Amino acid sequence: MENLRERIHSLKKKRNAIILAHNYTLPEVQDVADLVGDSLGLSIEASKTDADVVVFCGVTFMAETAKILNPSKTVLSPEPDAYCAMAGMCGPEDIKEMRRMNPGAAVVGYVNSTAASKAEMDICCTSSNVLDVVSSMEEKDIIFVPDHNLGGYAGSEVPSKNMILWKGFCPTHHAISSEMIDDLRKEHPDALIMVHPECRASVIDMADMIGSTEMMVKAVSESDRKEFIVATEVGMKHRLEKEFPGRSFYFPDVALCGVMKMTTLNSIVRCLETMSPEVSLPDNISERAYSPVKRMTEIK
Ligand code: 13P
Ligand code: SF4
Repeated sequence: MENLRERIHSLKKKRNAIILAHNYTLPEVQDVADLVGDSLGLSIEASKTDADVVVFCGVTFMAETAKILNPSKTVLSPEPDAYCAMAGMCGPEDIKEMRRMNPGAAVVGYVNSTAASKAEMDICCTSSNVLDVVSSMEEKDIIFVPDHNLGGYAGSEVPSKNMILWKGFCPTHHAISSEMIDDLRKEHPDALIMVHPECRASVIDMADMIGSTEMMVKAVSESDRKEFIVATEVGMKHRLEKEFPGRSFYFPDVALCGVMKMTTLNSIVRCLETMSPEVSLPDNISERAYSPVKRMTEIK
């Protein structure tokens, strides 16, 4: 593994590349990244980097988002078939139909969507800024796609809006049940309960803290608790244990996203050596998706 790490280090210099990795990627991938973070933090970094090449370790929609923000840069996706299941649940035609059915409503779309779907949105959001994005809209009626858990959460926190929800969901987060959290709570009664808003409402209702993966890191840094129940994907365990030695983090067993584990050190080496697979989007999609994605990065 040391060999692979050294190889990545020298290839990164040679290509003037930056490696961005989501909090759910494999521990060894996180350890070679220049930045490990949540969808919003990584998108912002991608929009301001002066590297020539961005290697995006995560899922396809994240690499596409980096390309939308940087059409002139080379964005490499080490595992181009790492499709987020939720991103496939609401296509551009679905959004057009929702608009036809709800004239005058704004479309707010979770960034966990394909580029073609983003092109049909008024603004994107992540789980970090969803409440600020929804609150910022002039329209009362908000079509929210694709995640009904995240949209339902936004609706309950911003009651002035009428949320029209699509039916998508994240299979990993939706599999976490309130019973699982209750069992963990019985074992660790002093733990702070942190819940990602892609979870079901019944799990969100049990939370002491609700937010994106990066918001969870911040919450731990500001807490004096020693134990944390974490209702999100288990890749976060590495990040949290590395940053907060001496504290304990408990995850529900089911919380594993297979596509987030596809990227390996080998695939990073391969893509930096061959400069492929490169993310490439049709111009008309990329141009139309730019404004909703850029607006998202401006609301922190
Ligand atoms: P974050 O917004 O915390 O990056 O979460 C993204 C994601 O895919 C959650 O499943
Ligand atoms: Fe998509 Fe869920 Fe995996 Fe996140 S955890 S990338 S939403 S399938």
